[in-house]
Amino acid sequence: MCSIVGYVGDRDVAQILLDGLERMEYRGYDSAGIAGIQGDDFTIVKRLGRVKNLSDAIDPSIHFEGIGIGHTRWSTHGKVSVKNAHPHVSFGGLFTIVHNGVIENYESIKNFLSDSGYKFYSETDTEVLVNLIEYHFNKEKDSGNKFLRSVQKALLHVRGTYGIAVLCKRNPKEMVVARKSSPLLLGIGDNEMFVASDACAIVAYTKNVVYLNDGELAHIAHSDFSIITMRNEKIDAVKCQLDWEIEDVSRGAYEHFMLKEICEQPMALQNAMRGRFSDDLSTAKFGGLRLSPMELRQVDRILFCACGTAWHACLVAEYLMKKYARIPTEVEYASEFRYGNIPLEKNTLVFVISQSGETLDSFAAMQEAKRKGYRTLAITNAVGSTIARESDGGIYQHSGPEIGVASTKAFTAQVCVAAMLALLFGRLRDMGFDEGFAFVQALHELPAKVAQIVESREEIRLIAEKYAHCEDMLFLGRQSMFPVALEGALKLKEISYIHAEGYPAAEMKHGPIALVSEKCPCVFLATQNDILQKTMSNIQEVKARNARVVAVVSEGSDLSSGFVDDLIQIPRTHDALKPILATVPLQLFAYYIARARGCDIDKPRNLAKSVTVE
Ligand code: F6R
Repeated sequence: MCSIVGYVGDRDVAQILLDGLERMEYRGYDSAGIAGIQGDDFTIVKRLGRVKNLSDAIDPSIHFEGIGIGHTRWSTHGKVSVKNAHPHVSFGGLFTIVHNGVIENYESIKNFLSDSGYKFYSETDTEVLVNLIEYHFNKEKDSGNKFLRSVQKALLHVRGTYGIAVLCKRNPKEMVVARKSSPLLLGIGDNEMFVASDACAIVAYTKNVVYLNDGELAHIAHSDFSIITMRNEKIDAVKCQLDWEIEDVSRGAYEHFMLKEICEQPMALQNAMRGRFSDDLSTAKFGGLRLSPMELRQVDRILFCACGTAWHACLVAEYLMKKYARIPTEVEYASEFRYGNIPLEKNTLVFVISQSGETLDSFAAMQEAKRKGYRTLAITNAVGSTIARESDGGIYQHSGPEIGVASTKAFTAQVCVAAMLALLFGRLRDMGFDEGFAFVQALHELPAKVAQIVESREEIRLIAEKYAHCEDMLFLGRQSMFPVALEGALKLKEISYIHAEGYPAAEMKHGPIALVSEKCPCVFLATQNDILQKTMSNIQEVKARNARVVAVVSEGSDLSSGFVDDLIQIPRTHDALKPILATVPLQLFAYYIARARGCDIDKPRNLAKSVTVE
């Protein structure tokens, strides 16, 4: 969704801003803009579409004097237009702002400001905020840090969410930034400061960062900064080191980030497991849960909450928890949990799964669970993200930055963590040493097996290209393969725009079979040998209706290539880990279909990487 970048220092400001915006392009946006101070006024350039359009529009006469802000907008208030693109300038021309988030009470503020003579040029809530800042600035006495105070006063009147960066013409060497439920971090360089809503925008310049907390404002002047709260308390900045390299946010030799990230899965899985097994290799351990074995034993029920792909990971987690730990487990869409007033029993542990750690619905679900007094833990990939920081504890995935909009390595790492949780809880209950040991062995072998699938991607490409012209597809699987079917369908529709549905294989007879024809191929996840015969009957049913069938099976399966049109074999593994192995060919299948259709794979239409609106 929207992204913010800011810079104070001696380098080429516009270049740093454009570079930062380009690195955050993956988050999804429809327009982009930058602002800086030149002479005694702001210079602002905005363009629709790609950051490239913006950089093409920057002529050599533009020279921002040591300070600037930039933004990519994913429209919420007002249509996609240059007028609505950020940065916005206040009516009196004193301030310019970039803003992520939504000002919920912007209409009443706008009416108030209109009555005071302010005029508005855009349809955005952001323009209202920058004018409210100017309104307070004009009322404030000329003492102390009037710029910072005006931003603070304006924000006190605002309901909603924001990450903002503001420049003031009267203080041309200073920037004020603030956050509430929208990520923002400061990057500390040598005699220079950076601001970004996503660390990938600045990792090329510095790894020293400070994550702002909700309700905090930072005042940046030259290479100095200070942080205060909305109530004027001074905050001691907590400095962290980014553990990313610039290569992690670059495509390298890969054609797309999505393919790079699919191929990175063996390493991502290894990172998710590293240091997380007991010395006797029979169970998992997670220090970040901050729960003793005794407290873990007292858990009677588990609720998993998430959105999208992460919700599919929750569905696999539910299956694993029930099967291996025998704990009653439920899954809720985060957006439904928040408003559903769902009954929870005591001794329920709530897990929120979120790759970005910034998805607003997931964060809101977490707050709701906490409000009800439940211990709420996070499984997330983003260190320092809102969900990570607001949880009572949790597990980092350590997948490395995921830039491709369609989630791949984050999903398999989430399922891997879920399998390890099922092992941990299982071993605290009924699972014996031998079973635990075999589980751990299988986990150790998993990255090499994923690598084997990734290495055979040419075969999957050849199969995928045969189906690239289709407009409908069904993905079918039973038990833990049902969420994999959902995930396969989601990947395909997200990046290739083919209509795809995931169903439990047997459920297909109760409706979706009406869609089945020679024009609607079916992808079967048939990896579980104990229910293979049942799945094979379902395959017969769709074949009888002329559907072409692609089947994903475990090596050595009784389901052989003669039975279906195309067969994809995955290595044999522990039952609990089949969802991970079965997902990888579906990611590649979707990827190669989208590629054959000429789709913009890393930036699929209408999608954003981290959804920070409800
Ligand atoms: C799909 C995808 C989305 C996200 C969802 C939640 O490929 O990436 O469905 O899974 O928006 O995002 P996070 O995990 O960041 O909370």
